Amino acid sequence: MTNIKNSWAEPYKIKMVELLKMTTPAQRKKAMKDAGYNTFLLKSEDVYIDLLTDSGTSAMSDRQWAGMMLGDEAYAGSRNFYNLERVVKDVYGYKYLIPTHQGRGAENILSKILIKKGDIIPGNMYFTTTRLHQELAGGKFEDIIIDEAHDSESEFPFKGNVDMSKLERLIKKYGAEKIPYVSVATSVNMAGGQPISMKNLRELRALTKKHGIRVIHDMTRVAENAYFIQQREKGYEKKTIREIVKEINSYTDGATMSAKKDALVNIGGFLAVNDWDVFEEARNMVVVYEGLHTYGGLAGRDMEAMAIGIEESVSDEHIRARVGQVIYLGQKMIEYNVPIVKPIGGHGIFVDAKKFLPHISQDAFPAQTLAAEIYLDSGVRTMERGVVSAGRKANGDNYYPKLELVRFTIPRRVYTQAHMDVIAESAARVYERRDKIKGMKMIYEPKYLRFFQAKFEKLT
Ligand code: F0G
Repeated sequence: MTNIKNSWAEPYKIKMVELLKMTTPAQRKKAMKDAGYNTFLLKSEDVYIDLLTDSGTSAMSDRQWAGMMLGDEAYAGSRNFYNLERVVKDVYGYKYLIPTHQGRGAENILSKILIKKGDIIPGNMYFTTTRLHQELAGGKFEDIIIDEAHDSESEFPFKGNVDMSKLERLIKKYGAEKIPYVSVATSVNMAGGQPISMKNLRELRALTKKHGIRVIHDMTRVAENAYFIQQREKGYEKKTIREIVKEINSYTDGATMSAKKDALVNIGGFLAVNDWDVFEEARNMVVVYEGLHTYGGLAGRDMEAMAIGIEESVSDEHIRARVGQVIYLGQKMIEYNVPIVKPIGGHGIFVDAKKFLPHISQDAFPAQTLAAEIYLDSGVRTMERGVVSAGRKANGDNYYPKLELVRFTIPRRVYTQAHMDVIAESAARVYERRDKIKGMKMIYEPKYLRFFQAKFEKLT
């Protein structure tokens, strides 16, 4: 009896299905070549299992769909806005809400308000759009995540933590007045969905308070971070995800949110702050870039679906199954000896392309190459998170990130355990023939966020 596992299972059943197209190797070869070996440029129709992103790809619940029918499409003062405002205050604890069309809309407004030319924005690893908006506003991002985060082998349980000594050094070097805020993410995406601990957040609050520096929270995947705190941090075993989320947020002054992830909607986001002055300016600025402050680029129905999704996202059963599925896939990959970032993170499996393809130099894009090979093998679409995503510095040099990863991102409530098996088997098959794989060269490079639209050619 003692050997019987206590498995998680989905806390929902399936009411409607979406049929998928299966492709042949020849069809995939043509599709990949036409897409310039960039998985972003594939047509979704040509994809079997889509792990490009967990962003906007979740399956909404019947309640969320019912909420869509309650959309109040008034230009001003929609009922759905007030529902959303109430839920954000109640679940997340932030006082003032500004809806935006998605996360980067909030990043744009916040960066414009808080950052002056020459400012320094320390953060626990960069995220592509977040850093770009900081730079476009005249700021400079400085990475203050702990060293373990850059090491795909380190099994440290909270690889999203801020290194306080790195932050102190920046404060000493530039002065607190040059640092408008610390940009802190939960479930650090580029590190592999790695969590930050509550203890670390508490220390960050204490240090920033001493210097009068704000903490702005990228809360895109806060509920997934809360799950790891519940599982790993002493004193939180008996707390609910909802309680943990609220406590995390209490150590920060405001947040940007891409509701397309945690909050289980296909579009939407917001900026939430506790500071009246920042709110007042943001409420004014949102009119320029997004829409009136009671819709911010969203339809009333989108706000209603988001309000319901937020409530569902902080349920303990939901999060256990959500992260459980990701861990199931990761363990399968480990069984096949595929090198992945450990510990397994919250929203996907990050395969270490430097270890997978050690014979391909970073200039020949190992992660981009591997993502293309996985698609060619099985029609599974993944995403590069390495030197292409990292882009170029202001002086034109490439950033060379230590982590050269392929992200297998799992949409929420969309795929089954059998899909996970097929994905792991595909990674294992490509791993078996890794020695025969050659790198690529970039033949087209856009100026901003190049990974979305760059094109490549296979090296012969
Ligand atoms: N912050 C984080 C941590 C994100 O992962 C994203 C989006 C954003 C901000 C921006 O939000 O897309 O709604 O404008 N990440 C997606 C991804 C694109 O695939 O990881 P957005």
